[in-house]
Amino acid sequence: MRNYNFSAGPSMLPLPVLERVQRGLTDYEGTGISVMEMSHRSKPYQAINDEAEARLRKLMNVPENYDIIFVQGGASMQFEAVPLNIHRSGKADYVVTGNFSGKAYKEAKKYGDMVEAASSADKNFTYIPKLDKSMFRPDADYVHICYNNTIFGTRYSSVPDTGNIPLVGDISSCILSQEIDVSKFGALYAGAQKNVGPAGVTIVIVRKDLQDCANPVCPTMMKWSTQIKEKSLYNTPPCFSTYVAMEVFRWLEELGGVKAVQKMNEEKAKILYDFIDNSKFYTNNVEKEFRSLMNVPFVSPSEELDKEFVSAAAKEGLLTLKGHRLVGGMRASIYNAMPIEGVKKLVDFMAKFEKANG
Ligand SMILES: Cc1ncc(COP(=O)(O)O)c(C=O)c1O
Repeated sequence: MRNYNFSAGPSMLPLPVLERVQRGLTDYEGTGISVMEMSHRSKPYQAINDEAEARLRKLMNVPENYDIIFVQGGASMQFEAVPLNIHRSGKADYVVTGNFSGKAYKEAKKYGDMVEAASSADKNFTYIPKLDKSMFRPDADYVHICYNNTIFGTRYSSVPDTGNIPLVGDISSCILSQEIDVSKFGALYAGAQKNVGPAGVTIVIVRKDLQDCANPVCPTMMKWSTQIKEKSLYNTPPCFSTYVAMEVFRWLEELGGVKAVQKMNEEKAKILYDFIDNSKFYTNNVEKEFRSLMNVPFVSPSEELDKEFVSAAAKEGLLTLKGHRLVGGMRASIYNAMPIEGVKKLVDFMAKFEKANG
């Protein structure tokens, strides 16, 4: 029996991927060993590494003047890798729209003259501030944004225009869930454990002109060019996580790619938001234009009912619906691998709970 897991991450993986991985677990494609036991210098692993890169490039339509690397350390390590790698004037501007962009800003401040160019803290991060290129310092090395805010359930409705200043995006919780024009960014990064695969691998996509300006103190392991030169094989990579990611990329292609999955995600999110908006019992207070497709926070009329909701839902196989401690209430993360049936089952449960407690 499989439950519907609404966790913000690590989160659900597609069942066909899990089954494929299971089939190859003890004997990967006739090698007689699993990917977990395989040298990263072996031919089968090199093929996995190459295929993962090529498939991701195709899925995200990554232009030729960008490199893709698979690294360790999570998105959190990139909070520091970004200022250490893009270091010219030593200045950078941050847009703070939630917990993770706030953390990125805090870490970056250790390495230069960083400023908060805009924030949505005034309304508890329930919207994305209006941005204009005049708000950024013309000599900033980059502008940093978090495209989808996992905890507060907001996302940018379009890519902000930063003029000639490179835009850097944390896309940890929306990568591959919707079309994103990579050419509008200088660099993008994402932890895998939401839409890509198991935790342990982090994707970084960097434009070529931003690969030779690292701060000299940047640790070798955090320097993007170290892994770019070695095609992500400078040291022992997270082989198994990258392998599962490659299977997820295959699955996504079979579904019809990002455009097709975006349509499914829009359909799923609409079911949930429409239900919440039509209910007098549940509330989502994110400004509609900025509602996330992936993370849907909501509350019931009281904290006691929220608690009851989460435990009663779990008994019905609807798992990990507790909201983040910064927001409270509930949060349904409906990443690519969450089937529409899971969302429908959640909404049915919400209706039942409302009837019993409203
Ligand atoms: C948007 C965003 N950025 C960064 C992180 C931190 O990622 P990691 O745990 O891979 O360091 C998360 C984790 O949930 C996230 O949602």
